[in-house]
Amino acid sequence: MLKRIVIQNYRSCLRTSIDLHPNLSVLIGPNSSGKTNILQAIMFLNKMAREEDYGPSHEDAITVSSRIKAVFQQRRTRIQLNASVNAYTNESNNDVMLASRQKWLFKGQNGKHASFEIPVAFAGRLLRDGMVPDYFRHLHRIHPYKLMRMIRDIPKWTTRALSSVAEYCSGIRYYGASQFTNPGSCAVSFEIQQEGKRRRLFRLRGHARILYNMYSAKKAESNRGYEQFIDIVGPKGLRLIDDLTFREVPTSSIDYSVRVGGNVEVRKRHMLLVIPQFRIGWHKLSPNQLSEGTFKTLALLFYVITGDSTALLIEEPEVCVHHGLLSSILEIVKSYSRHKQMVISTHSDYVLDHVTPENVYRVTFEKSAGTVACHSPKAMTAKEFSALREYLEQEGNLGEYWREGGLGDRL
Ligand SMILES: Nc1ncnc2c1ncn2[C@@H]1O[C@H](COP(=O)(O)OP(=O)(O)O)[C@@H](O)[C@H]1O
Ligand SMILES: [Mg+2]
Repeated sequence: MLKRIVIQNYRSCLRTSIDLHPNLSVLIGPNSSGKTNILQAIMFLNKMAREEDYGPSHEDAITVSSRIKAVFQQRRTRIQLNASVNAYTNESNNDVMLASRQKWLFKGQNGKHASFEIPVAFAGRLLRDGMVPDYFRHLHRIHPYKLMRMIRDIPKWTTRALSSVAEYCSGIRYYGASQFTNPGSCAVSFEIQQEGKRRRLFRLRGHARILYNMYSAKKAESNRGYEQFIDIVGPKGLRLIDDLTFREVPTSSIDYSVRVGGNVEVRKRHMLLVIPQFRIGWHKLSPNQLSEGTFKTLALLFYVITGDSTALLIEEPEVCVHHGLLSSILEIVKSYSRHKQMVISTHSDYVLDHVTPENVYRVTFEKSAGTVACHSPKAMTAKEFSALREYLEQEGNLGEYWREGGLGDRL
């Protein structure tokens, strides 16, 4: 579980510190106050854990060095990760990480301490597979000798907690409202390469990617997560769809490559064309025929319900969603947040209707301090807080309180 994150010199976060709720944290605050930036900074933890996200260096890119301090709690061990990150922003305002150094500080039971340096991604690989692949080392530009020393310096008692932090980081997922706008642009099918049980996909992003994830979850040997997902969105649950099926059409393609000396190499590839079909009543619909709200809700709930994530960052779940449905979504999010840490950013008081003040953080932008996140119970005096408590118990809900200006500026 991520307890605290301190973000330095990243976009509007000059020195932003936030103590997250163990289950559900809800960020509220004016536009441009830095809510998205906080979520993006948390995503750096995920980028560090995934080897492929180190981008190539880029001559004219302006790189920024940010610092991220993350504190995790794993049973009785407190783990602090101090990371420095060099990244630049690409054309779509996403961060491309160029380099990162990750130092660890462990505090165990009986005053045990340890500090050492190793990239999160290495730690995950090392503890899972017992080795770090060579290409990986090249990517991080670490000399084999240095890597050996790094590995030697990790005390045995820290390895379990270390691997669970690595697993946590690699399982953080981000759901943005803007990610699934306009389902009309979604392809009606996607193609994958299949060799035995191994599947490979080609440059799938956005809508197609989530459809592929749904397909993989359905195909997985133990697809309990997928069944739960269909139960919840299906006729017995929210009735968004009646069923989701995937038609599979085997195809093949042939690659030719000419070698030096004129030999021609012919390679046959077995491909699979996968066609998702959403059944709603009598209709079979392609993904691009779904309403935007339905598509977004399916995507969000898929992230929430199925098991391959450890934490979820959810941006504005209210966008395009009717408030009745939003209530159900939030109840589902709340109940899954007992197993999966969730951080939501929102402009909707309907979202606040479902949470307590302990879940709420007010994010503001101050000229000299940048983005500031304030846990709402802390932002109030004890008297104000008990008045709020009383109000919540007797008459209203938190959303109303916010509407009336009780949590600071109305947006
Ligand atoms: N790549 C960037 N570099 C520097 N500042 C940025 C970058 N992208 C966004 N910002 C700034 O961050 C501020 C807050 O953005 P954001 O987190 O999206 O706000 P919110 O989500 O709270 O509406 C904005 O003022 C914006 O100018
Ligand atoms: Mg935002």
